[in-house]
Amino acid sequence: MSIKRIGIMTGGGDCPGLNAVIRAVVLKAHAKGWEVMGIEDATEGLMDLSYRAPRGNRLLTPAMVDDILTRGGTILGTSNRSDPFRYVVDGKETDLSARAVENYRALGLDALISVGGDGSMRIAQRLGELGLSIVGVPKTIDQDLGATDYTFGFNTAVQTATDAIDRLRDTAISHDRVMVLEVMGRNAGWIALCSAMAGGAHVCIIPEIPYRLEPVIAKIRGRREQGQPFSLVVIAEGARPADGEQSFEGERQLGAMPKLFGAGYRLGAQLQPRLELEVRVTVLGHIQRGGSPTQFDRILGTRFGTAAVDAVEGGKFGCMVALRTPEIVTVPIAEACANERLVDPGGQLVQAARDVGICFGDA
Ligand code: F6P
Repeated sequence: MSIKRIGIMTGGGDCPGLNAVIRAVVLKAHAKGWEVMGIEDATEGLMDLSYRAPRGNRLLTPAMVDDILTRGGTILGTSNRSDPFRYVVDGKETDLSARAVENYRALGLDALISVGGDGSMRIAQRLGELGLSIVGVPKTIDQDLGATDYTFGFNTAVQTATDAIDRLRDTAISHDRVMVLEVMGRNAGWIALCSAMAGGAHVCIIPEIPYRLEPVIAKIRGRREQGQPFSLVVIAEGARPADGEQSFEGERQLGAMPKLFGAGYRLGAQLQPRLELEVRVTVLGHIQRGGSPTQFDRILGTRFGTAAVDAVEGGKFGCMVALRTPEIVTVPIAEACANERLVDPGGQLVQAARDVGICFGDA
């Protein structure tokens, strides 16, 4: 099949490295003589919902992507509540997938590169079944996609969380306090675990290891008795007490994922009356999603982008590019959707953390 025009869209939460992918796709595709149509705000642009995607779909030239490599976010905009198969119109979930297919044809696309996390990959898979020629590119700060060793965005998010721990350490030491830092990651504890290790935290609470208060209190008290009257606690937003549930905000909104909220404050409130030290809670939130990507994420995004163009040229539709260190390979999108990558509580990484004294609240 001879390719003349491809589309690219970014879906789900933004993360550092998206612009590196867009740039790589545009540069490589143009070198082949292809046009690249930037689809605005994920599938909202694909469905041509111009009231939701006001900047509009547009052809991307090499000049337009010349200086975006170092920028966070996505120049195309994104959305994490625009599933065409259950798009919310007038308060009701409606199937607008036919509109997406129709508009894909109207835009003259020979193929579409969809950059996103698990939700976007599921949508890509279903659009592929409706006849769209789609190649996926995995992104997420959560690092929870099964089919790839790494997603870009994660490395930058861990660096941001580590920087936060480094700063919180100063206040913890100066005031003899317990500083609790809540980080993102949804159901996966990767950001919490890796930043806790990199930042030298003393307690790390992750969704994969339900926690109890007693071991956490014992750890903090033990440190105090040994002359270290401060502690750094990292908790993932998806943390789960052994005798309770994950902490969510209010009612789930139609068309959106349930919103994790309050894990850090819940832990802080539980710890404060049981400790002689002051407890303070910081929720890092979307700061983890922004900022200039690390060199790792810039390189991975660039490799994924160029590999996605190769996949289009090779007709590998229904596939996602993935890192199987050191190679970039293609895997069926279905495989990527099937496996959520979670921290292995019995794995080497957790063991290394335990070996240097990090308490997971389970023992
Ligand atoms: O999936 C990325 C992520 O940042 C999660 O870590 C977090 O739970 C969620 O998105 C937040 O989504 P929103 O931007 O809709 O608040």
